[in-house]
Amino acid sequence: MAEDWEAGGFGLYVHWPFCAAKCPYCDFNSHVTQSVDHDAWRNALVSEVERVGTLTKGRVLRSVFFGGGTPSLMAPKTIEAVIDAIAKTWPMANDVEVTLEANPTSVEAHKFTAFRSAGINRVSMGIQALNDPDLLALGRLHTAAEGLAAFDIARSTFDRVSLDLMYGRQNQSLTQWKSELWTALALGLDHVSLYQLTIEPGTAFGDRYKRGKLSGLPNDDLSADMYALTQDVCAEFGMPRYEVSNHAKDGAESRHNLIYWRYGDYAGIGPGAHGRLTLQGQRHATEQLRMPTAWLLDNDRTQEEALSGADQAVEFLMMGLRLTEGVDLDRYTRLANRSVDDTKIKELADLGLVTQKGRNLFVTNQGFSLLNAVLRSLLND
Ligand SMILES: C[S@@+](CC[C@H](N)C(=O)[O-])C[C@H]1O[C@@H](n2cnc3c(N)ncnc32)[C@H](O)[C@@H]1O
Ligand code: SF4
Repeated sequence: MAEDWEAGGFGLYVHWPFCAAKCPYCDFNSHVTQSVDHDAWRNALVSEVERVGTLTKGRVLRSVFFGGGTPSLMAPKTIEAVIDAIAKTWPMANDVEVTLEANPTSVEAHKFTAFRSAGINRVSMGIQALNDPDLLALGRLHTAAEGLAAFDIARSTFDRVSLDLMYGRQNQSLTQWKSELWTALALGLDHVSLYQLTIEPGTAFGDRYKRGKLSGLPNDDLSADMYALTQDVCAEFGMPRYEVSNHAKDGAESRHNLIYWRYGDYAGIGPGAHGRLTLQGQRHATEQLRMPTAWLLDNDRTQEEALSGADQAVEFLMMGLRLTEGVDLDRYTRLANRSVDDTKIKELADLGLVTQKGRNLFVTNQGFSLLNAVLRSLLND
């Protein structure tokens, strides 16, 4: 009998934890350092690939994602060595997706051809904003023109390029966001990630916010209007949402992120990387040491925690309902050993927040704006 993870497939996440500067809004595991011993990092990442490979022998790899941090600061030969090790470790799907997260400065754009030769076939580029004052306020090291120039180079180098933009920024009006989104979509993208800026505790923005010094952030009404507008503009461009914050033309969805949202298995390597791995029939949550220096010295083991069926069912629902394709209620039942409460589904359906077709449950357009409340209602019974 197939194991549950097979419904989502198997992928690999590789974390590169260094950045040229720390952006004030960012709470990812990213660090600024004077120098990086690229040989030591290459050897450590390759040996982690080999170690995880022995645990997951014979699986077909659908996707590899180099994320960060700023993995476009990696030496192309490090990426090449890691991809070579991956190719020796797992059979790869014919259409394997190999993504690199890139920052759009000219330094990185000049490395794109070398990244392609190393085996990267998709780039996800953090443009974030399309005007210079906002990029400065976000602590970014590139101008809007540099961002667009890097995007052009990426597009002439790779078949698949996605952009990230953040909205709900300080003093950003609905009209300004509309025109910025239009400009981005008019570039003729087939994938875009559009995130509402969140203020994370422990970041520079988080500290400023606590002191009442981060003015001009949208209130709940404006945030809701911005999200609704985003859906309308993207629909006009034939780029409907397929996940809460991700939009794509048909077939251009991120195969890597679909593994997470469809609750497949993925190995996470590099400092702080998380994974979900089913080993001898038991799914585990895995995590690597978070501090880069600690990880570099001690990466020959993984911290793993066995997940109960109930834990897995919760994760499956939380991930799956983010997708417009919805979730298979029978899969939930198999994981949880009980079904989702039908009366809860009916209550939410009567409010217009979910729809059920056969055994598939979807969140409606209205429900997407209230996704957390929908999840709370389905899970807290
Ligand atoms: C791993 S991060 C950074 C990737 C890359 N280093 C960059 O900065 O372009 C991936 C994306 O998350 C988004 N992001 C990061 N922090 C965020 C925040 N506080 N609120 C909303 N989106 C955020 C940004 O759009 C970013 O491109
Ligand atoms: S947003 Fe990107 S570049 Fe900025 S600190 Fe975070 S990971 Fe680094």
